[in-house]
Amino acid sequence: MQRVLVLNSKGGCGKTTIATNLAACYAVEGYSTALLDFDPQASAGKWLSLRPGQRPPIHGVAAHRRPGIHETRAFQLRVPPGTQRVVVDAPAGVTGQALRDCLRDVDTIIIPVLPSPIDIHAVSRFIADLLLEGRVRQRGIRLGVVANRVKEHTRVFQALERFLATLNMPFVTHLRDTQNYVHAAERGLGIHELWDSRVARDKAQWAPLLDWLEQGAQAPARASTA
Ligand SMILES: Nc1ncnc2c1ncn2[C@@H]1O[C@H](COP(=O)(O)OP(=O)(O)OP(=O)(O)O)[C@@H](O)[C@H]1O
Ligand SMILES: [Mg+2]
Repeated sequence: MQRVLVLNSKGGCGKTTIATNLAACYAVEGYSTALLDFDPQASAGKWLSLRPGQRPPIHGVAAHRRPGIHETRAFQLRVPPGTQRVVVDAPAGVTGQALRDCLRDVDTIIIPVLPSPIDIHAVSRFIADLLLEGRVRQRGIRLGVVANRVKEHTRVFQALERFLATLNMPFVTHLRDTQNYVHAAERGLGIHELWDSRVARDKAQWAPLLDWLEQGAQAPARASTA
């Protein structure tokens, strides 16, 4: 089982968009897939509720909910036996125990970042803080950055590229700013489920991310840290 967390303390950078599109992509590829929604705004859960019944299923877990009176947290967060891919959507500004909850058993973290001076500044601080979180280093969790809502050939994207080149972590891909993500989300779909030629470029931008994730899935399993 591979478990991927989409995380950045900054709001609105594309965590839910990337988490839902990744879950849909895995489901389309035939993986038994679960989507854990840690955000009380429940955007990923809402997306799942819009998903047409005939599309490949994704098991949703409302991880933001408080456990029931006779329910342990681990029981609440369980995924069905045989699940092959777990995608975790984190809320903005998550810290402390809530962050440790999100990090539980994660192999890989995708950090979406918007090309804006404020977001570039915030992400450098966020990454520094994340690396101080013991279990990220101890467990060798892979971190990769995805630039989101990119307008290519803009100065601010070039500034983001320069900044990301200074980080000691992969800059995995960039996703352009397009309504294709908005239209897919309105229907509970991912862009990999649209066959319109207008999404061809978006699918191509996802390819390096899917390859990078697959390299991680091939790596030897790590010890569980519940
Ligand atoms: N590549 C993109 N192109 C166009 N719109 C996008 C793109 N990525 C995200 N969006 C839009 O930007 C908004 C914020 O995205 P999203 O909800 O995924 O961010 P988030 O990081 O999950 O936010 P929050 O911190 O509130 O959970 C949404 O309206 C979404 O549709
Ligand atoms: Mg979100």
